[in-house]
Amino acid sequence: MTDEQLIQLAREAAKKAYAPYSRFQVGCAVESVDGEVVTGANMENACYRLGLCAEQSALTTAQHSFGLHKVARIAVAGGTGAIVCTPCGGCRQAILEAAQLSGRDLEILCSSGDGTKVERFTIGTLIPHGFGPANLGD
Ligand code: THU
Repeated sequence: MTDEQLIQLAREAAKKAYAPYSRFQVGCAVESVDGEVVTGANMENACYRLGLCAEQSALTTAQHSFGLHKVARIAVAGGTGAIVCTPCGGCRQAILEAAQLSGRDLEILCSSGDGTKVERFTIGTLIPHGFGPANLGD
């Protein structure tokens, strides 16, 4: 799958967000080493702090579909305008978990909601010196 296709899936997933409070819709697409793709979107809650981010939603499905250890690449898209959506701190930690399990410095494609702007990162640059399963000796 091309970068553009993975981003497109993240953009489509964002349309299924449940974000009535922030009105900030985010989608995430997670690709496995075997080319399988799962998606997720943010899901908010009337108890605001209990909202779920798109990345955590997609990673949960990834674990059930093929396992976090098989995550190969992630695309995130969201918001309005041309600012790319980068994963929040909590989502970076969740991505780091998959990265250390897989032994790969995972690539993250961050797109604006309209797809006009894309920036590429690795989880190592987004959360340098992160604490993960490797620190626990697992
Ligand atoms: N959000 C995500 O889904 N992922 C991120 O990495 C950044 C923020 C969501 C959470 C909330 O529903 C909305 O975007 C506004 O913060």
